Amino acid sequence: KRVAIFISGGGSNMVKLVESMTGDHPARPVLVLANSADAGGLAKAAEMGVPTAVVDHRPFKGDRAAFEDALQAELEKAAPDILCLAGFMRVLTAGFVSKWQGRMLNIHPSLLPKYRGLHTHARALEAGDTEHGCTVHEVTPELDDGPILGQAVVPVLRDDTPDTLAARVLVQEHRLYPAVLRRFAEGDREMLRLSAR
Ligand code: GRF
Repeated sequence: KRVAIFISGGGSNMVKLVESMTGDHPARPVLVLANSADAGGLAKAAEMGVPTAVVDHRPFKGDRAAFEDALQAELEKAAPDILCLAGFMRVLTAGFVSKWQGRMLNIHPSLLPKYRGLHTHARALEAGDTEHGCTVHEVTPELDDGPILGQAVVPVLRDDTPDTLAARVLVQEHRLYPAVLRRFAEGDREMLRLSAR
C-alpha cells in the first residue's frame, strides 16, 4: 500500500508513521505534503528519503476548491492508496473528502466524540475530566466525526496544564497512529484501544 501524509507543522506524527513502515509492514510512504513551506516536518521527511510537496493554502485565499484541486494534483502524481492527515490544520470540504472517504485517516487529540475541533486539552481540563487521550478515525465530511479506528487513554493529573496534558497525549498519538495505520493497511477495521503505559 502507498501512503501519503499531510502535515502543517513539525510532523512528529508523520515521523512515527514513516518510521513504522519498514520490513514486513504492508505500506510504504510515497509523499509528505505540507500546506506551508516552513512546516518543520518537510525537512524530516526529506531526511528519511520521502518525497515531499508544498501546497501553500494562502495564495488561494478563501477559494477552498482551488486549494483542494492543487492538493488533488499532487496526490494524482503520488497515487497513494491511503491518505493520513497528521497535524494537518486545514479543513477539507466534502468535495475533497468524498474522493478519499474510506481511504483517509486523521488523528485528533481527544477521546472523540468529546471535544471535536480545537483547544481539546484546555477543554478537558476545564471540564474536570480525569481521563483524556487521542483518536484515530476515518475522515468524513463532518469535522472530526468519522468511524473511530483507535483510541489511546491517558490520566489527567491534578496539576496538569494544557501543555503537560498535550505532551502526555502526544506520546500516545505516536503509539496509536502507527498501530492503527498498520491494521488499516491490512484491511483490519477492528477498533484498537491503548492505555498509557
Ligand atoms: C499536535 O497537537 C497533535 O496533537 C495533533 O496535531 C499537532 C501537531 O502534531 N495531532 P505533529 O507533531 O505535527 O504530528
